[in-house]
Parts: sequence; structure tokens; C-alpha cells
Amino acid sequence: MTDTTDPAGELGAQFRSRLYQEMPPPPAALATPALVIDERSFQHNLELVANFFIKHPAKLRPHTKCHKSVALAKLQISAGGTVGGVCVAKVSEAEVMVDGGIDDVFVVNQILGKENLERLCALASKARIAVLVDAPENVRSTASAAARAGVSIDVMIDVNTRMNRTGVSSVEGAVELAELIAEAHNLHLRGVSGYEGTVDVTDRRKRTEQALAAVRATCAAADAIRQSGLAPEVVSAGGTSTWQITGSEPGVTEIQAGGYLFCDGGHLPLNPELEPALFVVATVIGHAEPDMVVLDVGSEALSAAYGPPIPWMHDCKVEHMSGRYTHCRLGRGARLRLGDQLWLLPAQCDMAINRFAALHMVRDGHVVNLVSVDAGGCSQ
Ligand SMILES: Cc1ncc(COP(=O)(O)O)c(C=O)c1O
Repeated sequence: MTDTTDPAGELGAQFRSRLYQEMPPPPAALATPALVIDERSFQHNLELVANFFIKHPAKLRPHTKCHKSVALAKLQISAGGTVGGVCVAKVSEAEVMVDGGIDDVFVVNQILGKENLERLCALASKARIAVLVDAPENVRSTASAAARAGVSIDVMIDVNTRMNRTGVSSVEGAVELAELIAEAHNLHLRGVSGYEGTVDVTDRRKRTEQALAAVRATCAAADAIRQSGLAPEVVSAGGTSTWQITGSEPGVTEIQAGGYLFCDGGHLPLNPELEPALFVVATVIGHAEPDMVVLDVGSEALSAAYGPPIPWMHDCKVEHMSGRYTHCRLGRGARLRLGDQLWLLPAQCDMAINRFAALHMVRDGHVVNLVSVDAGGCSQ
């Protein structure tokens, strides 16, 4: 994990001063805690990544699990440089995206269990759906569900490149699975996918080495499948920590990055090209000690599972979070009074967004758009 536990330290200060000398103007009339997108930084991230993929052979298939919003998914697609579809993590997220009008969805996960497989296959009659597989049982159950539903479904072979989470761990394993898929009616072998995880190494050279080793293992699996006489068209990999490295690798056709839109506390030290764009705005409701303020948000609304949020203020550090409160210790340079608002950068954007119904797009202190979190709570 990237160290976000010392936001008042040198690293935090360096990144904060990159953007804001002071907090952005508080949005008027916003009930807190509220989730806010800083439009200027959001637009910077959106365009930077879109322009890269417009110019490169690999294209972006944005992972929407971070924002869970149909409107933002459509914005990403219309910004250009994409395959015209999205990634999701869950069947229920895929349902939301398809209902919202997105007609090409890759569920970057193994789907097992009758109920979820039936739901997945029902979607395949409305949109182009792809799903990950990494075991013969998985291939067979997906094929049977597709046959029962009378649909054809795209499958992608998951390659375990460095996460040890899921995926086949050898090119031989990938070829065996590809042959099984080729024999199955109702399945179409679309390609291979090797998500390498967040490569949370700040040293750019070392990160490049690790990312390239991972993506080359995925490409090797695709090559071995081709040599066996089959034709995987898609080679998918990459996330926000590796998007330029993996996205420049010959043979890669799609990149699965998602969190690039917001550059959360985990990505902040890894991605100097991106700007933090997603914040939770909280209000100071307590001042029990002179150098401590208490905010009206706690871990019920702002998960600290990936670390505490980073207060967007010099000399201010989260000391403790409970269900509904956050205690921030103030140094000499920080001044906050009762009723003041503080912007907090979440350590991880997916977890933060999942707890809110809407995102407030803010420009120059004004809410200019309310973005619905359509797939919030979609965990099946
Ligand atoms: C399978 C998969 N692909 C892509 C991503 C994208 O990650 P990021 O938000 O870092 O771009 C994730 C993130 O968890 C993931 O699990």
C-alpha cells in the first residue's frame, strides 16, 4: 500500500502545493458531508488520458467501478480514445450500464453461481457482454448458462501476472482454456486479460519494470493461443498506475484504467500527470481541544479501509476516525473554526463513491452539475 498515513509530511505537502495553496472556495449551499468533483481537475484528467489513447493503437475501456455513473461513463466514451464500451466488476453494475444505454460491457471478474450467471446471460441478449474465465468449471458453467438463455457470450481468459488473485498462471494453462472455450457452443473466445493491480512503486523505473513484466506475460499468453491456431483479438491490461506504460506496449489493445478520472490518495504519489479531482467536503462541528477539530463525516460515509483521507490543508492531519466523526490535528499553520468546511481527498475513490447517492460537480465554488451514482451498492 502507498503510504497516505502521513498527509502532513513532506510527500503530502509536496502534492498539495502542486495544486492548491489554499482550499478551493467552499461550494455554496451544500449539505455536508458531500462528495464533490473539482471540474477543472476532472476535465484535465479526462482529456489527458483520452488524448493519449486517441494517438495510440491501444484504446481505453474505462473501468466504471470507480464512479458507478452512466453519465460519467458516457462522458468518457465521448471524450474519445476508447473502444466504445466499459469495464465493470459486477453483474449488477453491468445491468446498470446496459440499462443506461452502454452496449459493450466487459465484466472483469469470474462469475460463478446460477443466479448471477443467469443475470449475466440475460444481458447478452441486449448488449455485447464479455466475462473473465480462468478454470474449466468456469468455462463449462458459463457455456451452460449461455445455452439455457440462448445467447452467445464473449469470454476473456484471465492471466495471473502479479496479483495472485485470479487467473491462469502459465501460457500452457491459457492455451488449454482457449481450446476448451473454442469447443464450447455459445462461447466466443474474445481474448486475454491481465490486470496487474496497482503497481504502487513511486520509483518510475521500477514501476515500469514491474508493469512491463506483467503485461508481457499477458501478451505471451495471447501469442501462445495464436500459435495453437486460435485467434484472440483483444489483449486487455493496465490500470491508473500503469496506463501510459501498459498503453504503449505493442500487442495490447485495451486498457482497463478507471481511477485516473479522480486521482485519489493512493494514486496521488504515483501519477504526477493527474490532478486530484474528487473530494469529500465536511464541516467542522467540534473543537473540543484548541488544536483539534472534529468533522461531520466518519468511516460510515468515508471508508478508511485504504487509509485515512488527506485533508486539503497544510498542517492538518487526520488523527482518528469513528463511525460519524473525524478528528483532525491542526499544526501552527492551520486555522479552522466551527462551521468551516474542509476538503478531504479520499484514499480510494471507489469506496468513497459507493457510499453517496450523487456527486456534485463544482466549478469556481458553484455546483454546476449533479451526477447520479447509478450503480452505488451494486455488489452482486
Ligand atoms: C480488474 C481490474 N481492472 C482494472 C482496474 C482499474 O484500476 P484503476 O482504478 O487503478 O485504474 C481494477 C481496479 O481495482 C481492477 O480490479
